[in-house]
This record gives sequence, C-alpha cells and structure tokens, in this order.
Amino acid sequence: MTPPAVPPEFLPFTRPSIDEATIAGVAEVLRSGWITSGPQVKAFEARLSEYAGGRPVRAFNSGTCTMEIALRLAGVGPGHEVITTPLTWVATSNVVLEVGARPVFVDIDPVTRNIDLDRVEAAITPATRAIIPVDLAGLPVDRDRLSAIAHRHKLRIVEDAAQSFGAEWRGQRIGTGGDLVSFSFHANKNITTCEGGCLVMNNEREAKLAEQYRLQGVVKTGYDGMEVEVVGGKFNLTDVAARVGLGQLAHLAEFTAKRRELARAYFDAFAAAAARAPGLRLPVADFTNSNWHMFQVILPEERLTVRRAEVMAELHAAGIGTGVHYPAVHRFALYQRLGWKAGDFPHAEYAGRNILTLPLFPAMTQADVARVVHALTTILATHQKC
Ligand SMILES: Cc1ncc(COP(=O)(O)O)c(C=O)c1O
Repeated sequence: MTPPAVPPEFLPFTRPSIDEATIAGVAEVLRSGWITSGPQVKAFEARLSEYAGGRPVRAFNSGTCTMEIALRLAGVGPGHEVITTPLTWVATSNVVLEVGARPVFVDIDPVTRNIDLDRVEAAITPATRAIIPVDLAGLPVDRDRLSAIAHRHKLRIVEDAAQSFGAEWRGQRIGTGGDLVSFSFHANKNITTCEGGCLVMNNEREAKLAEQYRLQGVVKTGYDGMEVEVVGGKFNLTDVAARVGLGQLAHLAEFTAKRRELARAYFDAFAAAAARAPGLRLPVADFTNSNWHMFQVILPEERLTVRRAEVMAELHAAGIGTGVHYPAVHRFALYQRLGWKAGDFPHAEYAGRNILTLPLFPAMTQADVARVVHALTTILATHQKC
C-alpha cells in the first residue's frame, strides 16, 4: 500500500529570517536592564549611517513616522502639495494629509509600476513643495531624472524607500545619495526590526530636529536641563528592536543575493510555462538595481473568467500564500471623499485590481518557485475566456 501523500508545507508570501545569534542577542538586551532606546539604537544608527555612506541616520518605530518627519523637516504643511504615486501602501499619502498638505497623484508607468516621471512636471503647481517617489517591490525610481526634475523646480524629495533597502541606483546604494530617504523595517521588509524604520538626512541640523520630532520635542542638556520647542510625537525605536536590526544588517548582502537568484528562477519558470498563462505581466527583469523585495505579477483580467480573489483562493487551497500590494490609494473611501474618482489613474487602477504578490523570501528554494509557477499557471490555464 502506498502511504498517503503528505501535503506540502504552506508557503507564505514572505517570512523573516532571524538567526540564532540575533535571538541570543535579543535575550541579552532583555536581561541587560535597558530595553527601550539606548546603546543598541545608537549602534544600529551608526551602522545605518555607514550603509548610507556616512550620512546622518536616525532610527524610528516605523517607516511611516519617518516620512511624516521628513515632510516636516522639508517644511511641508497646510496649503502645500506633494506629488506621489497612487500605487503604494496608503502610508505614503496618509502622511501628506497628516502634515496638513494635499497629495497630488500621478499615474504609474505600467511597465515599472512606479510613478511615471514623464507625467510629473505637468502636475507641478506653485503650491508643490515635494515629490515622494516609491520604489515599489524594491525597483528604484530613476534617481537621475527625479533629481533633475526636483532641481529644475526647486522641490524637496522624500524618497519612500520603505521597500528598497539594499537596492541600488547605477551602482550607488539607495540612501547614499538624494535628499531625505525613508526606509521601513516592518516584518515583511528585506531587513526587519519587527516594526521600525530609519531616515537618512542631509546634515546634523536636520538630524537634531528629527530627534525632537521623534520624542515629544524634548531637548536635554546636562544632568537636569530640558526644553521643548516643537510638537514632537512618540516615535522612538526600542533597543530590543534595534538589536534585531543589527543582526539583520549582517545578512543584507546574502539576503539580497538570494532574492535576486529566486527572482531569476521565477523568470525562467514563467518563460517555460508562458503558453499556460497568456497575457500575464511579469515585473521588470532588473538584477542590478532592484533588491527584489517582492515578485509581483499582474493578472490579465480581460482574458480571465475569474477575478484575483478567486485565483488567490485557489492558490491558498494549493498551500501557497499571496498578497495584494496594493489597491490604488485614490480608490479608498477617504480619498474618494477628498475628490478622487474611478478613472483618474487608469494604469494604477488596473494594477490595483490585478497585481498579485507571489512568495519570495530568502529561506525559499528554487523548488518552491517551481511549485508556485506550476500552481499559478495551471489555475490561469483553467480560467481562460474562450
Ligand atoms: C511603500 C511603503 N511606504 C511606507 C510604508 C510604511 O512603513 P511602516 O509599515 O514601517 O510604517 C511601507 C511599509 O509597509 C511601504 O511598503
């Protein structure tokens, strides 16, 4: 008698890799008696500054507050406009609203899925103060074109590089150049602190102000001096989280290399199965700049008899997790109330309805990739319109 087939283990779309040395390091921090912001945060910031080519870097408890603070540092507030993409995590535009300014969306380039730089200048008005480019899935927006536009129009750039830690632009790591650069270390990101983020700045003056915004506006001097001059929040990172980040940084190069290798395996497997999934759109095959934070396909809705949710449900039944990153931001109720409507940004809307994030994380194998591609292309082949 043949033994019953063992169902393959569920494959999530992402999973952090935390090594034993990091876990032991966290235990040491917990035993040390100092668990909130302290020496580990300082050490983490020093390493992040090395990563950013010596630029000042401060750590925070999210990659959302980093952007809000960046906008404050750039002097963005009520009456101002900030240009960004509608295909992003809603944090990107929420922070613009949070500082009292108005987001101005510009449609995406359907190939890169990032903001279409050809359309940015037409969106600039006298109220425009900044651009927030987003490196979706870790594929960098063209930094040369971006800085030329910003320079021409005297605009600040707040890079939402939440997804592009470890990515490069023409051989330079993202964060080593540009203006204000925000990274996220959320659990799904290429390196994590569980929750957290950091901001790369231009000078110590900005860094000092960012420290004030980070913690209630407080400036301490000597043993007992304390002053508050700006309204700050509660955005500091804990030492426990920073110790996780230090352990993760040691693996960055290896993680990025593994992600690139798995992305290549996806391209090879999809090329071999192309006949089963006509019209399926793959990401840009970039193996030098992108850190492959995600591998996302766009389903060809016009050729299929089912919607994305059904494809996700069938993949889930096959033991494969997927994600949606992201619905187009301007279609959310809050943004509809603020005046945006269906049809405003057709490329972002199409992507928002049909984009699908497939499993990709460093502990995956090439066999996992083959399994995902086989399952997805089989599902798509069975749901083709005649
Ligand atoms: C593009 C983008 N922007 C901003 C954020 C916000 O980062 P966090 O979740 O750390 O606040 C994220 C992460 O989820 C993101 O992917």
